[in-house]
Amino acid sequence: MRFSSALAVASVASTALAAPNKRAASPTATDAADVYAAQATALTLSPTSNVKGKVFDRYVSIWFENTDFVTAQADPNFAFFAKKGITLSSLVSVTHPSEPNYIAAVGGDYFGLDGDAFNQVPQNVSTVIDLLEDKGISWAMYQEDMPYSGFQGFAWVNQQNGANDYVRKHNPAILYNSVVNSPERAAVIKNTTMFYKDLKDNKLPQWMFITPNMTSDAHDTSVTVAGVWLRNFLGPLLEDKNFMQNTLVLITFDENENYAIQNRVFSVLLGDAVPEELEGTTDENYYNHYSEISTVEANWDLHTLGRWDVGANVFANVAKYTGDRIRKWSTTPDLAHRYFNSSYPGIFTTHGKWAPQPVPDCHSRRNGRTTLPSIKAQWESQQDKNYYHGELEIPDGANPPVYPYTW
Ligand SMILES: *[C@@H]1O[C@H](CO)[C@@H](O)[C@H](O)[C@H]1NC(C)=O
Ligand SMILES: *[C@@H]1O[C@H](CO)[C@@H](O)[C@H](O)[C@H]1NC(C)=O
Ligand SMILES: *[C@@H]1O[C@H](CO)[C@@H](O)[C@H](O)[C@H]1NC(C)=O
Ligand SMILES: *[C@@H]1O[C@H](CO)[C@@H](O)[C@H](O)[C@H]1NC(C)=O
Repeated sequence: MRFSSALAVASVASTALAAPNKRAASPTATDAADVYAAQATALTLSPTSNVKGKVFDRYVSIWFENTDFVTAQADPNFAFFAKKGITLSSLVSVTHPSEPNYIAAVGGDYFGLDGDAFNQVPQNVSTVIDLLEDKGISWAMYQEDMPYSGFQGFAWVNQQNGANDYVRKHNPAILYNSVVNSPERAAVIKNTTMFYKDLKDNKLPQWMFITPNMTSDAHDTSVTVAGVWLRNFLGPLLEDKNFMQNTLVLITFDENENYAIQNRVFSVLLGDAVPEELEGTTDENYYNHYSEISTVEANWDLHTLGRWDVGANVFANVAKYTGDRIRKWSTTPDLAHRYFNSSYPGIFTTHGKWAPQPVPDCHSRRNGRTTLPSIKAQWESQQDKNYYHGELEIPDGANPPVYPYTW
């Protein structure tokens, strides 16, 4: 796992090619013939549910790429949506580059990842998906230009012009073995063609994560292109009854562009779950990508992962009704001097010190929420190796986590 890389993908792909008649194409194969063969038979599911939340009944994240806060704020289309919602002026990403931020947003840690290689988070790491399913809440990923549901390959390019399109590193669920090893789960990791089908059929789930392609999300282009994409995508949805069903939408970015300044990203909360009096306002509280998990936990009274999700502030418009206390950063160095521009050690470290897989906090408590029982059952006997304690102040490369033991 430590040294997994793009090279590993290449060998998986060629193994699949070497024995074309022996078995179906591997879901990690990226050769066009394999992809089209798998596309023809891929399982797609669209489960729905109707579990009432305290503040919202549907949660939608839309992630863009690599843009400084002030640059996104100045874009006319991002500004258009800011007027319709709450701008979060202190949402700080957790590290650089992309992939660890996506991993963090569903798993509550990034396990030392400091690159964008082909990684697989071990089966024994749980995600927000386990928390949602535990309460019967439906979910899906919608990834623009992913060639078929459950595709696990490293990338898929535009077949006409060879341009980057879909990339695995921007698809948080696909990076977790605990997700992709279940066929039912893989079948709800879909593309935006399926999004429009689910929308038309009024079969959208209650939790979803949307990633535009490498052109649309600003990665290979600019915030201007991303803003136009967002206007075309989200603009009509704001008026669509099949989308707006007490829905909270988060527009955000994985990370900023300039590594020398704090990794703060432009983020807006909007949708029909945001009351009119909050439209066009700014919330200055400190949040990070773990707040995206804690807010969902607070809204539906979910269990926790026992990782950095436990201490993350719940978005204030939600916390006001769930009774979650918003906390201020209180340790030195203060927040202004925390850049979150490099990764601390972990199992995925490639250019620094390695560190073991952290054990979740099995005794987490936050406003009545406790650690998911299946996580407790798996990890309870190793609590002497837990480094999470429910704090708001999270580590970064310059201020790494303190392990209670040596190895
Ligand atoms: C979790 O899985 C990893 C990778 O397979 C393994 O190294 C580790 O020992 C496992 N930990 C536990 C507590 O099962
Ligand atoms: C989207 O996924 C579906 C289901 O697997 C597949 O049939 C379709 O061809 C995909 N669309 C695109 C544009 O790749
Ligand atoms: C990315 O998405 C846009 C629109 O959403 C589409 O026009 C474009 O063809 C897609 N792919 C590439 C490589 O640009
Ligand atoms: C993080 O930002 C600080 C402040 O600008 C800078 O001194 C440091 O070199 C940066 N680290 C990386 C890895 O870019």
